[in-house]
Amino acid sequence: MEQVIAKVAGQLVKSRHAIALTGAGLSTESGIPDFRGPNGIWTKNPEAERQAYESYYKFQRDPRQYWVESLTGASWLTALFKARPNAGHDALAQLESLSILKCVVTQNIDNLHQKAGSKKVLDYHGNISLLRCFECNARFDPEEYDLERLLAQNRLPPLCRRCNGVLKSDVVHFNEAIPPDVARESLEEVERCDLMLICGTSATVYPFAMLPRTAKQNNYRQKTVIIEINADPTPLTREGISDDLLQGKTGEILPRILEEVQKLKAAGR
Ligand code: OAD
Repeated sequence: MEQVIAKVAGQLVKSRHAIALTGAGLSTESGIPDFRGPNGIWTKNPEAERQAYESYYKFQRDPRQYWVESLTGASWLTALFKARPNAGHDALAQLESLSILKCVVTQNIDNLHQKAGSKKVLDYHGNISLLRCFECNARFDPEEYDLERLLAQNRLPPLCRRCNGVLKSDVVHFNEAIPPDVARESLEEVERCDLMLICGTSATVYPFAMLPRTAKQNNYRQKTVIIEINADPTPLTREGISDDLLQGKTGEILPRILEEVQKLKAAGR
């Protein structure tokens, strides 16, 4: 493991455009369960997964009712607001501040990369801290809308200040398209990158899981080093998409990579 960590640190220092792709495994050490691990939300409660598939249809059918249920029902999502970034998020933010990591594309909606100080974050599945207009895609801070008052006055759903379209949570539900701006920018990052760190994802949910495969397919014109850091092997490991798997906890391995990078930088490499 130490040798691979040292190798990856060297590859990072030499890279031109390194990016990270992250998933729920990165946030488990912040106390947020993942989806498909042994204590995963879907593993422990398959009914929750079935309900999640209905959220988007509910919104399309009756946005008012969607909002009433979101504001009055109990949801595991509320715990996300209190969570703090862990050593894995911090290490990625520091790699960016060293100008080594250029972007994080995350499936996580928990806003923890931003809380850790990462600047260039693409929220592939949206962000729990934002509202998004279903028509024009504009994002808003919920503070701009007094949702509780709208609920009390029976004036839900909230409407977009720009185009009067209906607002939903920025979080991307099953069967909902990835917001086009994020989908485009993520693909541009993948096309540009020469090193990809894939952290804490089972890489089973599409279209996100297509991103490493796209990087691999581009190898004929530019070799992209693809590194997984994950508790378990994934389809990317088994199909030979990734060059190396660092098997273990992101909260332990990412800080060790950062440490090696700092040593290399200090030695002027
Ligand atoms: P998963 O739960 O599918 O995968 C998490 C991966 O992280 C698993 O392979 C775990 O073994 C691994 N893992 C857990 N803790 C770890 C740790 N501390 N260090 C390293 N690895 C760890 O989560 P995602 O791949 O992110 O989508 O799931 C993708 C999407 O499925 C989510 O964004 C969500 C879900 O349905 C939507 O809601 C649209």
